[in-house]
Amino acid sequence: MGRLQGRVAIVTGAARGLGAAAARALAIEGAAVMLTDVLESVAETAAALAQDGFQARHHSHDVTSDQEWQSVVAATISAFGEINVLVNNAGINLPGTIDDIEVDAAQQIMNVNYFGAMRGIKAVLPSMRSAGHGSIVNISSNSTRMIAGLTTAYSPTKAALALLTKNVAVACAQGGDDIRCNSIHPGPHETAMLLGDAMDGNSDAAIKLIQPMIDAIPMGRMGKPMEIGKAVAFLASDDASYITGAEIFVDGGLSLL
Ligand SMILES: NC(=O)c1ccc[n+]([C@@H]2O[C@H](COP(=O)([O-])OP(=O)(O)OC[C@H]3O[C@@H](n4cnc5c(N)ncnc54)[C@H](O)[C@@H]3O)[C@@H](O)[C@H]2O)c1
Repeated sequence: MGRLQGRVAIVTGAARGLGAAAARALAIEGAAVMLTDVLESVAETAAALAQDGFQARHHSHDVTSDQEWQSVVAATISAFGEINVLVNNAGINLPGTIDDIEVDAAQQIMNVNYFGAMRGIKAVLPSMRSAGHGSIVNISSNSTRMIAGLTTAYSPTKAALALLTKNVAVACAQGGDDIRCNSIHPGPHETAMLLGDAMDGNSDAAIKLIQPMIDAIPMGRMGKPMEIGKAVAFLASDDASYITGAEIFVDGGLSLL
């Protein structure tokens, strides 16, 4: 039996990349999964899981809207009965230096990466309390521990998310809720966010472009999306029952240099 048999999870930004991998990893462990995204292709990602025999549904969802969070929560409870796991994965990046980035654009990144996750936590907490337990996993970034150039607007959103994670962890624990909250900090992974359009065709070409970054990773390679998926499934499961407020770096050692 899987470690998440009988559990119900919501994964945001699940159409592709790390979110799609997290949804699959949770489903493999037995969870019923609601995949959400602004991209219509989230329907195909969920259908592929269902075709493989897993319990999966999808919902169109912009994480910056409280109203849409309420519909996702209602649809998940209607489909699967309760909510036990939330993976705040939806995220955007706009590379640039302090000279390039407009404050309005930086605010939009904050709205998705930080406030989107905060809205999600507030939306699911009542259902997790009713269910009696829960696990929240926030996808931050290893850029909270290093200055990686061009992440001027992005890194602060992920640092804020990591600190929100710890606040939620302590508030839930001290409030007597059996609800844990942790953050995962990925390094460079093979997804569209990093490799761009090349993901559709020739990702080898894109990998060549970012070869210097790959060479700097102590383990000598980028991460595979499923390596984040498995970390998410672990934190969601009772195997992580005493882990809350933790930062798990999944970056091949890059941020240690
Ligand atoms: N790929 C990496 O190397 C890497 C490294 C560190 C952190 N991350 C983080 O991991 C997460 C997933 O990244 P990815 O690489 O899979 O990127 P991705 O661009 O492939 O996937 C992100 C998903 O989020 C969705 N999304 C964007 N805005 C949204 C919104 N307002 N509401 C709902 N969904 C929205 C996108 O449509 C997309 O499907 C992000 O939070 C990202 O910051 C990725």
